[in-house]
Amino acid sequence: MRQKITVVGAGNVGATTAQRLFEKSYADIVLVDIVEGLPQGKALDILESGPVVGSDANIIGTNTYEETSNSDIIVITSGIARKPGMSRDDLLLTNMKIVSDVVDKTVSKSPDSIVVIVTNPLDAMAQQALKVSGFPKQRVVGMAGVLDTARYRSFLAEELNVSVDVVQAYVLGGHGDTMVPTVGPTTVGGIPVADLIPTKRLEEIVQRTRDGGAEIVALLKTGSAYYAPSASIVEMIDSIVLDKKLILPCTAYLEGEYGLNGLYVGVPVKLGKSGIEHIYEFDLTDSELQSLHKSAESVKELLEIMAGN
Ligand code: NAI
Ligand code: 2OP
Repeated sequence: MRQKITVVGAGNVGATTAQRLFEKSYADIVLVDIVEGLPQGKALDILESGPVVGSDANIIGTNTYEETSNSDIIVITSGIARKPGMSRDDLLLTNMKIVSDVVDKTVSKSPDSIVVIVTNPLDAMAQQALKVSGFPKQRVVGMAGVLDTARYRSFLAEELNVSVDVVQAYVLGGHGDTMVPTVGPTTVGGIPVADLIPTKRLEEIVQRTRDGGAEIVALLKTGSAYYAPSASIVEMIDSIVLDKKLILPCTAYLEGEYGLNGLYVGVPVKLGKSGIEHIYEFDLTDSELQSLHKSAESVKELLEIMAGN
């Protein structure tokens, strides 16, 4: 029997995610949005691609939550996206209300589900989802590190003119300007990246990674990235649905790991059918660990604003 996946938000990220999932054929999909006709129209359009892409999965669109009952996975992309001049943090209070409402409505109908948060500011929204859902921390995970790492890997592969497949990297920390593209654990064909790219050039690539989301926003002007984000969400969902147990950088609730406590930050985790099955503590350099703590401080600032609202 196919799994059931609900995707909330039928905008750029949600609809592209639904399309990619439909093409995998391993799950039936419910696409939810508040805009009347939008999820229904997009779902029908995706369904009609079935005979061409070879998918027998079902996909429906809806403005209510009845059809989402007993989902195995809930992906939350609903909310506002940033426009030029806006940071992810500018979305905080509006998206906090949207995420709280949507988490409440979905988890009450799917109490055994795994929730994948995408809405920005990501780490703070994951924390809010954990609070509202009352789920164990293993079943609330945020997507950002896979995306940031994909950007980093793309830039490194381009720089060295090698396949993206041979670039192993991890971007850790919060999904914001203080994210931490690591250098120590990053290798190309097993060779430490610092042996292949001069320090100054590597610093430029690290900075381009940190600015990766803003680079796309500046080009698109009307919204933010969605092709690489949806591909990143689906890599996480593959690992859960197929119990692949990939080790991916995801936003997870930390209780002491890396010296951080009581908040969501991007770290390497094992993702499988139970959700976050393990958090790995990499041997970071002092400066990387310091950067991770600085990034966690930025997440804490958002949590404090949310607590006052
Ligand atoms: P979008 O504007 O294209 O789509 C958002 C959708 O959410 C809209 O269709 C809107 O009608 C819907 N929506 C708003 N309130 C709702 C509610 N209460 N219930 C159901 N649906 C609701 O935006 P896009 O580009 O899809 O981005 C969505 C979110 O994902 C943004 O917050 C964006 O910043 C974030 N994002 C996060 C990434 C990450 O790495 N974590 C990557 C890319 C985007
Ligand atoms: C990104 O990094 C908007 O967070 C999103 O593209």
